[in-house]
Amino acid sequence: METKRWNVTINESMDKDAIEEAAALLRSGETVAFPTETVYGLGADATNENAVAKIFTAKGRPQDNPLIAHVATKEQLKRLVDSIPPYAEKLMDLFSPGPITYILPTNGTCAENVTAGLSTVGVRIPDHPVARELLKTCDIPIAAPSANVSGKPSPTLADHVWEDLQGKISGLLDGGATGVGVESTVLDCTQVIPIILRPGGVTKEQLEEVVGTVIVDPSLANKNEKPKAPGMKYRHYSPEVPMWLVKGSVEKIQQLINDEREKGKKIGVLASSQTSAKLEVEDTYPLGDNIHEIATHLYDGLRKYKQGDVDLIICEAFSDSGIGQAVMNRLQKAATEYIVEGI
Ligand code: TXA
Ligand code: MG
Repeated sequence: METKRWNVTINESMDKDAIEEAAALLRSGETVAFPTETVYGLGADATNENAVAKIFTAKGRPQDNPLIAHVATKEQLKRLVDSIPPYAEKLMDLFSPGPITYILPTNGTCAENVTAGLSTVGVRIPDHPVARELLKTCDIPIAAPSANVSGKPSPTLADHVWEDLQGKISGLLDGGATGVGVESTVLDCTQVIPIILRPGGVTKEQLEEVVGTVIVDPSLANKNEKPKAPGMKYRHYSPEVPMWLVKGSVEKIQQLINDEREKGKKIGVLASSQTSAKLEVEDTYPLGDNIHEIATHLYDGLRKYKQGDVDLIICEAFSDSGIGQAVMNRLQKAATEYIVEGI
């Protein structure tokens, strides 16, 4: 299959032709990748079972993992669900469009393979000019998982999508780098108290300010608990080579680098810009000065080191408050070992 790639410059005119072409492909049952404010998504008509099946094939995604339906407005969102509790309405007024997905009872409008046969559906209004224009133009709900091959880090650049899915999808709208860098917060809104199933762009602290108590799915802290979001049980975000996640001082990280180097290993480092500057190592990717910049560059960092470049990635662990909770959740899934200084 030939994958058509359009460059979309984000300005007032917004390359309407490219977006109209992409929307026409989506309406005719084809797959198109597009940027959102979190990561690139791989879209298909959420009401068309055959179209949605193409997403699973292109990504190699397990069939039991449901997809998020993306819409442009709250009115469109309401057409996909049975009911919305008042606290979710309140959250929507404040955080949508934005990096949050609401799990609500489905009314059956989305195809069976979007919800993987569950009685609920994940719905999200993305906040990215290209995604919003595309959704408005095609005027149908678009099912879209992250546009990566299953198991690999999510794409935050069009080149990441191209690397994974070229030849397997019909189109790719290149709108440059995404912003937030980690995916949306998945929030179960079917219970009296909302439950975070996947930490993401909207933080627990932000949610608590609005609704008071928020529960975090116990499986996020305890590997023996079964996750409530089917997708959270899979190993994810894996770099091509083993990765150690290290919680400890710069000295501890340097000592690990030295020990492994002595064994003849080539080491690549992922760390904050401050830590990177202090380390003596042949290859480092400074992720940024603060946790927001680190989130933005995280997946590019996890994709940077290819087999043959290095034998081992050593990655610094970060504080898990605010968006750090999403960053650390992804890093713990990506790492082959988690090393805590002193343990
Ligand atoms: O930021 C994002 O959310 C990106 C962009 C493209 O919107 N999308 C994304 O989709 O990350 P995906 O498919 O990679 O992750 C969706 C997560 C999975 O863990 C899935 O299991 C969960 O949401 N999910 C979807 N529908 C669900 C449902 N009805 N109940 C529980 N979990 C659900
Ligand atoms: Mg994904």
